[in-house]
Amino acid sequence: MQKLVLASNNPGKLREFRRLLEPLGITVIAQSELGNPETEEPHPTFIENALAKARHASQLAHLPALADDSGICVAALGGAPGVLSARYAGEPKSDTRNNAKLIADLAGITHRDAHYTCVLVLVRHADDPEPMIAEGVWDGVVIDTPRGAGGFGYDPHFLDPGFGLTGAEFPLEEKNEISHRGKAMRLLIERLRQRPLG
Ligand code: IMP
Repeated sequence: MQKLVLASNNPGKLREFRRLLEPLGITVIAQSELGNPETEEPHPTFIENALAKARHASQLAHLPALADDSGICVAALGGAPGVLSARYAGEPKSDTRNNAKLIADLAGITHRDAHYTCVLVLVRHADDPEPMIAEGVWDGVVIDTPRGAGGFGYDPHFLDPGFGLTGAEFPLEEKNEISHRGKAMRLLIERLRQRPLG
């Protein structure tokens, strides 16, 4: 088995990446298992943050590393909250306050188009000149009244007009089929099949 370090300690992400990558002969290790800290996400773009996290994790672990960065971009707000999605309403991070701020920012605005985006970056070593990059987007609209009890983050206010469901109304398996993260993960697997790690 080829080892890979995940630049996140989120147990949900760890479980999901393990499930996807083990069939490719890749053992996923959380950076916390190695005693290594997460890095900052100071950059203005998802790709820069994901690349910085992957590089940092790889440098400390001396292993290939995978990082992700994601968020919601609202057209009428010039792409905000964007990379600030997790902390849109400030510290400490709170989904409830983030959603309240988003809805307040959109008061009186009828153009509600938005999309979730997810970028995955895999580096074979810290100075890898060719990081493997996979992106996924999920289009929707922001609605004022929350719906659904599943999901997390902005999901109760993010409506997929094609399905007529919010992110919080999809069963998890179905959300994974259509979500930004699911699309990016499937693309990464395809790329890894074309260019295996070892
Ligand atoms: P991170 O990629 O874990 O840093 O997540 C960034 C933030 O984007 C999360 O804290 C959520 O606020 C938001 N976000 C990303 N993906 C989703 C999703 O699938 N549903 C709801 N919110 C999301």
